[in-house]
Amino acid sequence: MESCDVMVLGAGAAGLMAGIEAARRGRRVIVADHAAKPAEKIRISGGGRCNFTNLATTPDRFISANPRFAISALSRFTPRDFLRRIEGAGIAWTEKAAGQLFCEGSATQVVSLLTDDLARAGGALWLGCSLGAVRREGAGFTVETARGPARAEAVVVATGGKSIPKMGATGMGYRIAESFSLPVTETRPGLVPMTMAEQDLAPISDLAGVAVSGTARAGRTRFDEAILFTHRGLSGPAILQLSSYWREGEPVELDLCPQADLDALVAHGRAEGGRMALRTLLARIVPERLARQVEAELRLDKPVAGLSRADMARLADRLHRWRIRPVGTEGYRTAEVTVGGVDTKALDSRTMEAKGVPGLYFVGEVVDVTGWLGGYNFQWAWSSGWAAGQVA
Ligand code: FDA
Repeated sequence: MESCDVMVLGAGAAGLMAGIEAARRGRRVIVADHAAKPAEKIRISGGGRCNFTNLATTPDRFISANPRFAISALSRFTPRDFLRRIEGAGIAWTEKAAGQLFCEGSATQVVSLLTDDLARAGGALWLGCSLGAVRREGAGFTVETARGPARAEAVVVATGGKSIPKMGATGMGYRIAESFSLPVTETRPGLVPMTMAEQDLAPISDLAGVAVSGTARAGRTRFDEAILFTHRGLSGPAILQLSSYWREGEPVELDLCPQADLDALVAHGRAEGGRMALRTLLARIVPERLARQVEAELRLDKPVAGLSRADMARLADRLHRWRIRPVGTEGYRTAEVTVGGVDTKALDSRTMEAKGVPGLYFVGEVVDVTGWLGGYNFQWAWSSGWAAGQVA
C-alpha cells in the first residue's frame, strides 16, 4: 500500500500550495486529483491571465458565517507574500483595477510556478486519479484512490466547491466533512449572472450586450460597478458581486446612471430649445440603445419641452431606482465560486485542522469563506493552503 505523511486531495490553487509548504518541511507529500491536468481553474481564470491576488485584501472582502475566521491565515500569508513568489519566478504582472494583480502573460505561468515548486520540494503529483472515501485508521487515514488505498498521517481536503462541474468540480469535500460528522453550511452559486422571467426580459430583449457603469443593490448590500444586460438577464461585475449575497425572491434595485442629475440634464435640454427627443438627450448619459428602450417603454417619445413632472418622476424611477425580480441565477454551470461550505466553527482558524479530527484539514473554496470578485478567492486559497502546509 502506498503511504505518505500528507495526502492532499485536489491539485487546485489551495491544494498545490498546501502540498508545497508541507513538502518544504520535509514531509512526504502526495497531491492527488482526478483531473488530467492540475489547477484548471487557475488556467482559465481572469480571462486566461489569472487575477492571482488583490493587494487590498481585508477580511470584509469575504463572505462567511464567521467573518473573522479568515483573518489569521490572510495575515500570515499575505498578497505581498504571494507576489514575492510570482516575482521570484520571473512572472511579469500588471495591476488592472486598484489592487487587482494579473499575469501580464498567461495564467499557465502560475500553474507552472506551483507545480515546479511542488516538484522541487519533492512532492508527488498524481493526476487522473479518482478518489474515494477517506477513513480514519489508527493515528492516520486511508484514502481510496484509483491507484489503490493510500495511507497518510494527515489529509488535506482541497477539492474546491461545486462551481463548473465540467471542469471537475464535484462537491466531494463536503461529503468527506459530513463523513467525519463535521457541519457544512448551506451552499449556493456565487459570482454568477442573474436570470429574469420571460415576461420581464421581453421589453428589454434589445439591450443584450449593453453595459452601463451603475449600482446594484439587494437589501443593504450594494456594489458600484459595471452592469451588463444579457439574453437571459443581467451580469457584469456589480451583478456578479451582488449574486454572492442575493437570496432567491429578493428584489434587486439598479441605478443605471448614478452620476447623472436628470433634472439638470432636462433643464439643459430645454435651454437648448426643448425640441430634442428624450432619447437623444438620454444618450448623453446612458448608451443609445438603453436611451431608446427607456423612451419606448415609458412611452415618452416626445420633445424634452413636453415632459411633465409625472414623466420626470417615472424617468427617475426607471433609471435611478429600477426594481427587478431575478428568478434565479445561471447556477453552478457558470458560477465562479460556491458560497458556503465546511463550517468554520469546526475548523481551527490558524491551521485549518478539523476540531476533533486531528490530522484532517480543509483549505480553499471547500471552506465557508468566499471572496469578492477581484483576486480575493485565490488569495484565500494561497493563505489557507499555506496555513495547513505549515503544520500538516
Ligand atoms: P479548485 O476548484 O481550484 O481545485 C479543486 C481541485 O480538486 C480541482 O483540481 C478538481 O479537479 C479536484 N477535485 C474536485 N473533486 C474531486 C474528486 N472527487 N476527486 C479528485 N479530485 C477532485 N478567483 C480569483 O481570485 N481570481 C480570478 O481571476 C478568478 N477567476 C475565475 C474564473 C473562473 C471561470 C472561475 C470558475 C473561477 C475563478 N476564480 C477566480 C475563483 C477561483 O478559481 C477559485 O476560488 C479557486 O480555484 C479555488 O481554489 P481551490 O484550490 O480551493 O479549488
